[in-house]
Amino acid sequence: MSNRLNTTPNDLRAFWMPFTANRQFKQNPRMMVAAKDMHFTSSDGRQILDGTAGLWCVNAGHCRPKITEAIRQQAGELDYAPAFQMGHPKAFELANRLVDIAPEGMNHVLFTNSGSESVETALKVALAYHRTKGEGARSRLIGRERGYHGVNFGGISVGGIVSNRKMFGTLLTGVDHMPHTHLPDQNAFTKGQPEHGGDIASELERIVTLHDASTIAAVIVEPIAGSTGVLIPPKGYLKKLREICTKHGILLIFDEVITGFGRLGSPFAAQHYDVMPDIITTAKGLTNGVIPMGAVFVTSEIHDAFMQGPEHMIEFMHGYTYSGNPIASAAALATLDTYKEEGLLTRAADIAPYWEEQLHSLKDCPHVIDIRNTGLIGAIELEPIAGEPTKRAFSAFLRAYEDGLLIRTTGDIIALSPPLIISKDQIDELFDKVRKVLEGID
Ligand SMILES: Cc1ncc(COP(=O)(O)O)c(C=O)c1O
Repeated sequence: MSNRLNTTPNDLRAFWMPFTANRQFKQNPRMMVAAKDMHFTSSDGRQILDGTAGLWCVNAGHCRPKITEAIRQQAGELDYAPAFQMGHPKAFELANRLVDIAPEGMNHVLFTNSGSESVETALKVALAYHRTKGEGARSRLIGRERGYHGVNFGGISVGGIVSNRKMFGTLLTGVDHMPHTHLPDQNAFTKGQPEHGGDIASELERIVTLHDASTIAAVIVEPIAGSTGVLIPPKGYLKKLREICTKHGILLIFDEVITGFGRLGSPFAAQHYDVMPDIITTAKGLTNGVIPMGAVFVTSEIHDAFMQGPEHMIEFMHGYTYSGNPIASAAALATLDTYKEEGLLTRAADIAPYWEEQLHSLKDCPHVIDIRNTGLIGAIELEPIAGEPTKRAFSAFLRAYEDGLLIRTTGDIIALSPPLIISKDQIDELFDKVRKVLEGID
């Protein structure tokens, strides 16, 4: 029998929280108990304006009735169907609906349960694709400094955030990294895409020369590097990456876990920047963050390369127990309906100019050394406190929460990415609060 005296219901010790300063949190917990549209309700009864769409995922706002109802219904109708060698209609319907909004040519979808799993899936597809084509020597994966691709071993290997990598050994072999594109001296306070840095893409040529193209399977980048503090691609950069990959037969993977589903004013960043990758990874906004689910898009060329050999044989030895789970599929279908009915996959394009203007009006606030933005994304970089990196932004985060606003910080950067339903009044409210926060912290 378990020893039930170990814990009491309100004991916070058992849950080891993810990416959280556990000791700080448990001394002074910040608990959400409800949410609706643009707001959370905290356990002390306050309304908290959501400046981050949860974690870049609640794109349609919270507790949207259609999604809630779809989950309720599906849970009572078909809770689970085996994902391997069996199917259920909603997963197929969802894949078709996703292909309809994806960039042209992205005709096939593999389902996962998170952004991290989408990344692992994409990297494995890339490696296996080259093998099926008789180019098994293409086993290297190229990521980028400051890149974030989730927390699993493939993702942290190609990722470039040192603190996410350094504790975990030697990681995958055969990985190299392109330089990041952050040039604050030249690009500070840029609205939209920076002018300087597009030529950094040529560094990929140097890496290809070093290893030889015949050893490289894929390049993976976030079109906009989000978790490292919002680095927007300089003009020409993504197109140049595409050209180099095409020239050398290297697959280009866009990790659109945060940019997918309308964040920039197009369904995907690939459409926004008019650059077509070979594989796109997604998650988050796919189900409005409500149920864990991810999707990896691949071209017909990649998919068809696997469809060979005896027909009773499994073509790709990969998948998850919950790939295309019925309840997640129902949630995603209802999310796509909500996006469509409310025009949310393109709404950011309409509201972005107002967002940009209000965001950049914070330029004169204390501690601010850079502001950058695109679509419904904004970043405010603060001067770090000497010898105490991250502390100033964390103080801002705590102060904002006290003042009824959820922001996200990484390093000394405040990242903002509200639900795509935000009104102009709420944008005003958000930036008024941020201004007060910056004026109130040391
Ligand atoms: C670009 C990118 N890739 C992957 C991930 C990992 O997603 P998840 O936390 O769902 O595993 C994230 C999460 O923020 C992300 O921003």
